[in-house]
Amino acid sequence: MRNKIVAGNWKMNTTPVEGIALVSEVLEAIKNIDLEHKKVVFGVPAVSITSVASVIGDTSNVYVASQNVSSYDSGAYTGEISAAMLVASGAAMAIIGHSERREYFNETNEVLAVKVDKVLDKGVVAIYCCGEVLEERKNGTFETVIQNQIEEGLFHLSEDQMKNVVIAYEPVWAIGTGETASPEQAQAVHAFIRRLVANKYGAELAENTSVLYGGSMKPGNAKELMGMADIDGGLVGGASLKSSDFVEIIKAM
Ligand code: PGA
Repeated sequence: MRNKIVAGNWKMNTTPVEGIALVSEVLEAIKNIDLEHKKVVFGVPAVSITSVASVIGDTSNVYVASQNVSSYDSGAYTGEISAAMLVASGAAMAIIGHSERREYFNETNEVLAVKVDKVLDKGVVAIYCCGEVLEERKNGTFETVIQNQIEEGLFHLSEDQMKNVVIAYEPVWAIGTGETASPEQAQAVHAFIRRLVANKYGAELAENTSVLYGGSMKPGNAKELMGMADIDGGLVGGASLKSSDFVEIIKAM
């Protein structure tokens, strides 16, 4: 049975002190919720990984994720943070290939494939993002775009490695815009992604791969989206910064 996952992506928001407060509020509000086969993830700025990890402590099924990783192991790469450093700081997961990384920092499928390798090598789960821009949605090339992102970023992995990958489908036109893919639109892409994984790695592995939806998920639409057969949770940006909204989304899972 695949896990349901609600992952917050704080992006470049919150200081470490604010982060501690936000996580503490969420943990307090969900302490009586049964998280069996479910995960709650906080994708925090790198400077907050250590402090958020220590707030979480050994709380079951709650994890810290980084929002990026270096494609290098160590050395003269000023400003970069390696997978080994993330693990040592307490990150159990890493968001890789977010559309903002692709768009503003020119991250290609090729470099993202290396980043995925780097985190998996250290036992960190990769949350690999894919998704089309509005024009690709309109001109009907979105499936090809998503297929390329997945094939080029992930399909060099072995079956064992692939078991430590979560896929996030985030239509770029729905990120931070208030506009959400309809549950049917999202479901169609999620089913498409699962078929791609099944064709490459077999039906069983595909059945066990969590595929999250991201793009203006909020309390008002989370339940309907996560109720679709192939939508296993959410990667949540804006709504993860407000504890009450994030808690509602966790409850909808
Ligand atoms: P949003 O961001 O929920 O603010 O649309 C989602 C994301 O970018 O992961």
